[in-house]
Amino acid sequence: MSEIEVVGQVVGGKAARILVREKSGKKIELGDLLAVEEKEALLILQVYDLGYGSQVSQSTRELLAGLKLEGYGAGLTFLEPQLRNYVMAEVKAVARIEGQNVRIPKTLPSFFSSIRHITKADLAFLTKPSYPIYLGKVRSGSETLDVPIHLNGMDILRHHVVVPATTGRGKSNLVKVMLWSILGQDRFGILVLDPHDEYYGRHGKGLKDHPKAKDNLLYYSSNPPAGTNTLIVNIKSIDPRHFEGIVAFTDAQQDAIKRYRNLFGEEWIENIVRGKEVQGVAPRTLGVLQRKFDNILGIHLDDSGEFQSRNKVFSDTAGITTTTDIANKLEDGKIIVVDTSRLIDEAELLIGSIVVGSIFHRYQRFKSEGKLEEKPVVSVVIEEAPRVLGKEVLATSGGNIYSTVAREGRKFKVGLIAITQLTSLIPRSILANMNTKIILGNEMALERHAIIDSAAQDLSDDDRTIASLDTGEAIVSSNFTKFAVPIQVPKFEDYAEVEPGKKEMNKTVFVG
Ligand SMILES: Nc1ncnc2c1ncn2[C@@H]1O[C@H](COP(=O)(O)OP(=O)(O)OP(=O)(O)O)[C@@H](O)[C@H]1O
Ligand SMILES: [Mg+2]
Repeated sequence: MSEIEVVGQVVGGKAARILVREKSGKKIELGDLLAVEEKEALLILQVYDLGYGSQVSQSTRELLAGLKLEGYGAGLTFLEPQLRNYVMAEVKAVARIEGQNVRIPKTLPSFFSSIRHITKADLAFLTKPSYPIYLGKVRSGSETLDVPIHLNGMDILRHHVVVPATTGRGKSNLVKVMLWSILGQDRFGILVLDPHDEYYGRHGKGLKDHPKAKDNLLYYSSNPPAGTNTLIVNIKSIDPRHFEGIVAFTDAQQDAIKRYRNLFGEEWIENIVRGKEVQGVAPRTLGVLQRKFDNILGIHLDDSGEFQSRNKVFSDTAGITTTTDIANKLEDGKIIVVDTSRLIDEAELLIGSIVVGSIFHRYQRFKSEGKLEEKPVVSVVIEEAPRVLGKEVLATSGGNIYSTVAREGRKFKVGLIAITQLTSLIPRSILANMNTKIILGNEMALERHAIIDSAAQDLSDDDRTIASLDTGEAIVSSNFTKFAVPIQVPKFEDYAEVEPGKKEMNKTVFVG
């Protein structure tokens, strides 16, 4: 069996840097998972650097190369080249397995131990947890093993997930796979704020194609396909606090907003848009607020004094229950995709702010009433998370509902799935609270350092590995995994073809 072939041997090093000589022709790869069998345990090692080793001095090697290159000795070679020149791998021990016990290794493998590639059987301890969310399969270097990785969704969603990577490495694809795997499990209420309209699958394959989508997936769009929901939000459901940390107002504007809110209650925005004059508010301030609401919400008065909504999302008459409906469905454990592709950032974040604020307060209440445990965990998928979790936003505003969830949500079973290209913009105090990081490829050193610095496991040696991850290759670093697990995420379209939900459906059809 090729799987148990020896690929190298331990020849030296120290705990975090074990040196392995590669057996000639075995091609140990960066990121490979290797195994050493000890008496009572199995050590899992991971390769984080490769280099050349040689018994021949550098000057002699240079001379030989020169002779060959300059045509002096086509036939020249070393005696037994495979003995004299070789590849050295730097590896570290990532896990020590004794039966079902997995520990952080505290001992070195024996000197001269034989090393082999890891096998499916070695990873038998990676069992499927309850409330599983699928992430992909274990990857050793660029080889995928037939070992699925599921994490307990109740744990990881409540404690937040970060998906950092450069553009195009597969962040959205991964989150689609994760959501597909839990669609229909009513223990998860997921709100997806979808600025690129890529989750539902309006034009291609998407969450809508899941066999359980009919009862468990809701889609809100300002341009809804038949059978889905129209995204209309009544401006009466917007409270001044929903703008906190999302739209910056001057002191004068804030003061004016307070006055309108006090005087007109829920109709405060309407009265601003209609230009109703109020004592103590300068006409100039009112004018600026009108322009802001026009910009952000797309609402203004037309020439005949009629209320107009440019994006058809914010209305003064319709959509009174929309945000409450969405919050109710989240509480029922559904997945809600809100297509915000026709809205500007602030409007998208504002809608999220209303819904998340409402859920957060409900869940705080449930906790005080002792009803929280029976409720599904709620998680909010937010693309380009620094828009709401960025240092600058938080420094100038004192926070928003998303940063509140990031800091305190776990107590109330509300979490974030924060997707970002720019992890470095998120404060460490927030990153450290986000206990699961699914790290995809990143060529920017600054970003890699921000990720590594806040990871659950020591990834300080994985810098180069993260830089070299291909699309769909990831490392899962989580308080809920014993070690940082390298995975291969499937392409959503392929995964959705053979997904478990469908098989189960077919089974019940046959059985029933
Ligand atoms: N695991 C994968 N296997 C194969 N192809 C993938 C995988 N993940 C993503 N892709 C492909 O790579 C492309 C980019 O993926 P995706 O949109 O998920 O990246 P992203 O990180 O979300 O990018 P952006 O920063 O632009 O949002 C898509 O065409 C997608 O189909
Ligand atoms: Mg994306």
